[in-house]
Amino acid sequence: MLKLAVVGKGGSGKSTLSWLLIQYLANLKQLVLGIDADYNMNLLSNLGLDYSAEVPTLHHSHQQFRQFIGLTENESWGMLKDRKLPQFSINPDDEYTASLTLQVSEQIKLIVVGLGDEDVLDSLLCGHGQVAPLKWYLPNLETNGTTVVIDSVAGTDMLNYNLYQGCDALIGVVENHRNSIRVLQQIQQTADRLNLPFYVVCNQSVEESIATEILSRWDKQLLGNLPHDEAIAPTIILKLVRKLKTASIRFGDR
Ligand SMILES: Nc1ncnc2c1ncn2[C@@H]1O[C@H](COP(=O)(O)OP(=O)(O)OP(=O)(O)O)[C@@H](O)[C@H]1O
Ligand SMILES: [Mg+2]
Repeated sequence: MLKLAVVGKGGSGKSTLSWLLIQYLANLKQLVLGIDADYNMNLLSNLGLDYSAEVPTLHHSHQQFRQFIGLTENESWGMLKDRKLPQFSINPDDEYTASLTLQVSEQIKLIVVGLGDEDVLDSLLCGHGQVAPLKWYLPNLETNGTTVVIDSVAGTDMLNYNLYQGCDALIGVVENHRNSIRVLQQIQQTADRLNLPFYVVCNQSVEESIATEILSRWDKQLLGNLPHDEAIAPTIILKLVRKLKTASIRFGDR
């Protein structure tokens, strides 16, 4: 089954599209693995979950990952380049995947990268290291009929580090902003270099000049338009209200 990464400019609608795609597939009774690769974890929250210390994260399971792939303590990630790695598997889950996935519903599983903790703040290493296992996990993941949907960090970041090798396609989200087109062009350049099929979804209504530019660039790749949907915002607002209510009770207790 397909491994898809949703990419685009900050705020273009990546987490919204990832979430809708996951829900759509789940409604069709298909199995889906969502990967929230953004440290802000909006996909986790869109799926109705909250981040807490109990949530397993890619970031905190580096040790299990290293053990699973046989990387000893003194060996760097680069040593994996020429090695034949063990297969990961979803449905049924291998040991590492099982320890990392959250069961959101009968059809939906979720892996989150996680927020940087003190260890990241104090580290001399780049924060991209948090996501490092993805680079070897995705290409070696046997999906067994499960669709994988990855919600990305904004921009070309993840692609520049080749963290999405093993993906079957990229879905770029474009919105009513010239910069949104520019970022998608950069993403497409990287996708072309990596030989990754690239598709485009236009999110919410766009001005005529932007629509013309999108069509002139991506007529063949354009999958369609995602309309502005009032129901999307209220879902999130409802969650916020629920949270504020809980918070105010706590404040009231003080
Ligand atoms: N089609 C839509 N209809 C209504 N609201 C939308 C739609 N698409 C996105 N939004 C709203 O726009 C905001 C940004 O969307 P979203 O979080 O999906 O963007 P993103 O690209 O994931 O952002 P980031 O780069 O911060 O991760 C959210 O509040 C979301 O609810
Ligand atoms: Mg997002």
